[in-house]
Amino acid sequence: MVEQALTPPALRLPPAIQTAWWLTRPLSLMARCRARYGDAFSLRFIGFTRPMTLISDPEAIRALYTEPAHGLPPGRTISLQPVLGERSLLLLEGEEHIARRRIMLPPFHGERMRAYEPLMREIASAEIARWPIGRAFAVHPRMQALTLEVILRAVFGLDEKQTDDRREAQRAANLRELLRALLAVSASVRLQLRVLLARRSPRRDPLAPVLAIRRQIDQLIFAEIADRRKRSDLDQRADILSLLMLARDEQGEPLPDSELRDQLLTLLLAGHETTATALAWTIDLLLHSPPALTRLRGELRNAAERPGDEQAQSSAERYLRAVVSEGLRLRPVVPLAGRRLAADLDAGGLHLPAGSDVSPAIWLVHMREDLYPEATAFRPERFLASAPSTYGWIPFGGGVRRCLGASFAEMEMRAVLATIFAALELAPASAKPESPQRRNVTLAPRNGTRVIVRSRPIGAGDSEHGADRRPCGDSARRSLEGAR
Ligand code: HEM
Repeated sequence: MVEQALTPPALRLPPAIQTAWWLTRPLSLMARCRARYGDAFSLRFIGFTRPMTLISDPEAIRALYTEPAHGLPPGRTISLQPVLGERSLLLLEGEEHIARRRIMLPPFHGERMRAYEPLMREIASAEIARWPIGRAFAVHPRMQALTLEVILRAVFGLDEKQTDDRREAQRAANLRELLRALLAVSASVRLQLRVLLARRSPRRDPLAPVLAIRRQIDQLIFAEIADRRKRSDLDQRADILSLLMLARDEQGEPLPDSELRDQLLTLLLAGHETTATALAWTIDLLLHSPPALTRLRGELRNAAERPGDEQAQSSAERYLRAVVSEGLRLRPVVPLAGRRLAADLDAGGLHLPAGSDVSPAIWLVHMREDLYPEATAFRPERFLASAPSTYGWIPFGGGVRRCLGASFAEMEMRAVLATIFAALELAPASAKPESPQRRNVTLAPRNGTRVIVRSRPIGAGDSEHGADRRPCGDSARRSLEGAR
């Protein structure tokens, strides 16, 4: 074997230009490199000593993700550790990582997870009741508020309205505000810059504002944990914090408070922005794809009119699943989910030595014409006949590090989309679909997906974006009128 021939070509531009291109227009950079070099190529970013090889051949991705010994590339730890803490599941490696995953997985699967669906629908209904009628607004911030509320209630178990204890209610309200502040700071691209600066000049501490918020959050979380330990109803609570407090590790020990804190912040940071952005993208795609939008509305209307008809319910559910899969295919929110190789990687005509940093270029994989004919078209129907393939559809990464909250996020997306499109007639505020913009580690719609709510709910007669502004469904009328 001639190793030279299999080593992926490197983009020949100074690292500063590659970094700037990646930060400002990552999709154009990846598309250009694939056109020029094929399925594998490497990039160099400033601040990193080794190049990052991007791959988009499913066979090579299978080889990467089926080797559990591979580690994490340094980028993840550098940018996340100051906020999440060193015991975060996102940052643990090897046996420790597998052991923690085992403890944290149960609430994100099966019946336990499905128990959160009514809460998601309730939060979505309350959210859309506040939307203005006939006036354009950005839906992405609304989705952020919604997914934050889901995490605060399902994961942290915070609900000021449910408690009679004033001290507890005040703590929940304070925690909510501080978590919002932490999210605002950590979503900014400036955080990464601050972290890099902190590494270069340890005497200055550019991370001080982040750490100050985190210290306050820690106090409140520790007080919440201490209070819950004193109460007798811990095993009757369904929120994920309570379930983690009851969990025991292999030695029969509970998780220390500091680790509970790290894992809570991890779930908040990993699960809030990603799901909100995926929802904003999917709404944008639906509103600019009339056949898919019409079919979704038809399926939801049919299911609503035939509550006892299992076929109508499962047909709507199947189409919603396909819409979510297609949204995540066409606009994957996280562009990279990489590994540092613990052993050589030989697959798909590629050789990479142990120690290399490698990531699937998730968007390039999803754009492969051999897997997805007319790959740029939004066509949920492609997922009706067969489920997404394990290594050709990877919005949640893969292998032993695949997103812990993937099923939770997909369920949330289905619940929110069903609530919105069953109750409201939405129209795009602009004829042009959104283009992507970087927000920390995610790619988000540049203008926040601007939409207009027509007051007429679906199924009320005339043309699709007609001029009739009367709400006609009872619940829609109540909620929409309440918003004025
Ligand atoms: C559409 C929404 C979401 C997307 C696109 C997404 C994407 C991802 C990706 C790409 C990874 C890295 C996987 C890898 O390295 O192979 C990841 C990891 C993770 N995600 Fe998500 N995620 C989403 C929602 C959520 C939610 C709702 C939660 C929890 C509430 C969550 C919790 C996590 C955790 C804990 C990890 C670390 C897993 C590990 O390292 O073992 N995510 N996610």
